[in-house]
Amino acid sequence: MRQQLKPHPEIIVAPSLLAADFGFFRRECERVDRSGTPWLHLDIMDGHFVPNLSFGSDVVNALRPHTNLFFDVHLMCSKPDILLQSFATSGADSITIHVELGRRVEDLIWQIRSLKKKVGLAINPPTHIEDVEPYLDKVDLLLIMTVNPGFGGQSFIEETLPKIQQVSRWKSERQLPLRIQVDGGINERTGALCAREGADTFVSGSHLFRQRNMKLAVRRLRIACEEAACYGQSLQTSEGTFQDTLL
Ligand code: DX5
Ligand code: ZN
Repeated sequence: MRQQLKPHPEIIVAPSLLAADFGFFRRECERVDRSGTPWLHLDIMDGHFVPNLSFGSDVVNALRPHTNLFFDVHLMCSKPDILLQSFATSGADSITIHVELGRRVEDLIWQIRSLKKKVGLAINPPTHIEDVEPYLDKVDLLLIMTVNPGFGGQSFIEETLPKIQQVSRWKSERQLPLRIQVDGGINERTGALCAREGADTFVSGSHLFRQRNMKLAVRRLRIACEEAACYGQSLQTSEGTFQDTLL
């Protein structure tokens, strides 16, 4: 049988519910389910940390019985501590908070962990990547925002690419079991740029939800990212262990 190149770790596409038709959350969620992708990204905005409001844990709770998708909850909130418990009981599988919360980050990570959820840490485009460094071995997912958070449908900020490269370097130097996620303006072209630098988890809102055939769009995005990831890995490991990428 022909050996196929596969990126390591597995590429995951996470459609963002923020771009769904808000009048039909359940139907939109089932559309994501049918697309065959394993994750759904849920953006929670408090009108304070970002200048917009989205939806709360009641929506997560209402959707939970209708799907087995992994619920990837992204909290763009100034006071996540008062929300963690309700998102945990509503059915979140992972909860991501922002490094811009400063000294509260360590405690929030501990709280999410004690709720038995996967822990994510997000960083905004203007924030220095060194700010996440102390937490890399304490989280499961590092979310590099590729737009300024608050709204869907914005253009990808290319200046965020070196951040992905840096986190990817830390990850391989320290052999961390960390997912590197990107969020904002992701389509086949920008997803591939990120995959080449080491991203493995791709949030995509308006690009996917505006397609009539989401299954095909998810597949195309995943393949574009897989190909770019394999290319990036071959560049990084040309003198090392490329067999890691062979399945
Ligand atoms: C931005 C959100 C994103 C958003 C991405 O504040 O965190 O998850 O839904 O949407 P697109 O893919 O349209 O940029
Ligand atoms: Zn998000």
